[in-house]
Amino acid sequence: MVKLTIMPKITINDLLKKKAEGSKITMLTAYDYPFAQIVDEAGIDAILVGDSLAMVVQGLENTLPVTMDEMLYHTKMVSRAVKNAMVIGDMPFMSYQVSVEEAVRNAGRFLKEAGAAAVKMEGGSEVAEHIRAMTRSEIPVMAHIGLTPQAIHRMGGYKVQGKTEDAQKKLIEEAHTVEDAGAFALILEAIPMELAKKITEELSIPTIGIGAGPYCDGQVLVIHDVLGLFERFIPKFVKRYTNLKEQALHAIKIYKEEVEKGIFPSDKESFK
Ligand code: KIV
Repeated sequence: MVKLTIMPKITINDLLKKKAEGSKITMLTAYDYPFAQIVDEAGIDAILVGDSLAMVVQGLENTLPVTMDEMLYHTKMVSRAVKNAMVIGDMPFMSYQVSVEEAVRNAGRFLKEAGAAAVKMEGGSEVAEHIRAMTRSEIPVMAHIGLTPQAIHRMGGYKVQGKTEDAQKKLIEEAHTVEDAGAFALILEAIPMELAKKITEELSIPTIGIGAGPYCDGQVLVIHDVLGLFERFIPKFVKRYTNLKEQALHAIKIYKEEVEKGIFPSDKESFK
């Protein structure tokens, strides 16, 4: 008899336990069924359906135009594929900024309609009230400070944050504010590694770094960066683990050549 081992889904408690034990939390983005399946099968703890899909999937200039409906569409595909990882839906630009009420309603849609277990939202003290209200409504929230891409126009580009003493002090305060508001984890993006270390040591919730050095409780990257599928720019903090674009290009060129030369389809791929 084949014995099936069914691993339970990763929960917030598992992430907190990992921080307490000092074992690293792994997180990647995914935006559709096949990639979510691969990420899940690899044993990654959490999958973020990031608004980065605007850039890496939709081909847009930045993350601002992606809509709630598009985010829900992609989150549903990911949720369908995942057996173990925690699925986190990313709140897109203007889905939470206008009012706390609108934020809670939109956040709830990720859990109710798209199968996510939590949402992620950019911002510090300006979204503390939102985090509090979502948490009260049983919607777990992952906060995100440092470089917040939805603030690209205010920040003047994708720049490392927290370089001055004042900016560092402010980021440490923001980290405590979102923790106190009820966030269950915190993304730290593009900040100096010593600052990320200090925040990680001071907080009881896990920190997940992207461009924040090795001292965070976990790491996240955009899957298209990891697999070599996004070429427009490669941030310093990205490590490419393969070049899927080259491999796909090679396969497609061979297919084209075989069709043109009459090699494909052969008898093997044809019906008698
Ligand atoms: O949208 C996204 O993919 C993100 C992460 C990379 C943190 O916000």
